[in-house]
Amino acid sequence: MRALFRCAVGAALAGAVTLPLQAADPVKVGVLLPYTGVFAGLGKDMDQALNLGFDRFGREVAGHPIELVTADTESKPPSGLSQAKKLILQDKVDMIVGIVSSAVAGAVRNYVHGSKTPLIIANAGNDDLTGAKCSPYVVRTSFSNSQINRDMGTWLVENRSFKSAFLMAFDYAAGHQMMEAFRATFTAAGGKVVGEAYPPLGETKDFGPYLAKIKAAAPDVTYVFFAGGPAIKFVKEYDAFGLKGAIPLAGAGWLTSALYIQKEGAAAEGILGALNYVPAIDLPANHEFQQAFKERHGRGGSEFGVQAYDSARLIVEALKITGGSTATEKLLKAFHAVSLEGPRGTLRIDPRTNNVIQNIYVFDVRKAGDTVAAHVLDVVKDVQDPPNGCGL
Ligand code: PHB
Repeated sequence: MRALFRCAVGAALAGAVTLPLQAADPVKVGVLLPYTGVFAGLGKDMDQALNLGFDRFGREVAGHPIELVTADTESKPPSGLSQAKKLILQDKVDMIVGIVSSAVAGAVRNYVHGSKTPLIIANAGNDDLTGAKCSPYVVRTSFSNSQINRDMGTWLVENRSFKSAFLMAFDYAAGHQMMEAFRATFTAAGGKVVGEAYPPLGETKDFGPYLAKIKAAAPDVTYVFFAGGPAIKFVKEYDAFGLKGAIPLAGAGWLTSALYIQKEGAAAEGILGALNYVPAIDLPANHEFQQAFKERHGRGGSEFGVQAYDSARLIVEALKITGGSTATEKLLKAFHAVSLEGPRGTLRIDPRTNNVIQNIYVFDVRKAGDTVAAHVLDVVKDVQDPPNGCGL
């Protein structure tokens, strides 16, 4: 289409017709998110914050308008892969941003790598993608699964004297990687895993049988990874089952995400978590983000939103460096050159792995006015993953 258009313009000019100056080629950004399925709420939140980010940081760079093309992964690997192919082959996007699920990220990795399409992962934490299966074309602004969970094993032993844990997570790449990262440091610090369970990814109808297992194992702490609707359900059922007061609950901090903690209410009180962002962070860039998000959507922003907002900014800043060029090598170099002060603090892409280097916040959930909110207990500064087999 574009080539035909240029020919037409050329022919017109040859005929000495004066045409208005044409805008430079657009930069096409594929937005690959779950708009349906178990992570639909997360995807919608990220879409909103990504758009807020482009509105704030620029919808145009050096005369090139930035165009977004959305595609739904349905939170499923086969759909994620076919939509990635559609974005690249049919929509001819210059880069892709998004992806919530580690399983979807794993499914699209070889295709974006083979087609040399820059992919900015704005959530999925799949360790392999910035580890053994890293790629120069895959950059991550969100986190790796072990980056979030690694420090909690040691922290819970040292700060809460927990000696035994029951692990529970969705049965897919992210769930297993997170539990392994926790297990490694928990056991190294002298803790023991006394039981574990892995329900299938999706809406679990009834956590009752799992909760009975936890009760029978009687651990010092239950450590979990759940997100989205199942996180709300798990937190409420843990309370209703009578476990809340008996066995402390901790986990990867999405259990009590700012996106849905209000729906959990008092059932979330006392839960311990670790995450790369909490709304309480006292930084000018965070106040600005929270205020702008609230003005537009009538609610506060979440960590999912921050990752998308920061990704929009990374894309705009990188394009400024390249002068609007989407030439792959220039763009990839530019991603490494950007350092920005975002809502969660300084954000840098580690050139060794292409994973983000960032602070991890350890928090507990406390009553805050008539609601509940994450209260920061500790900050682990500038957490940088080891290369984990990545040879970039
Ligand atoms: C993931 O699949 O990597 C994932 C999904 C949802 C989260 C965190 C990680 O909240």
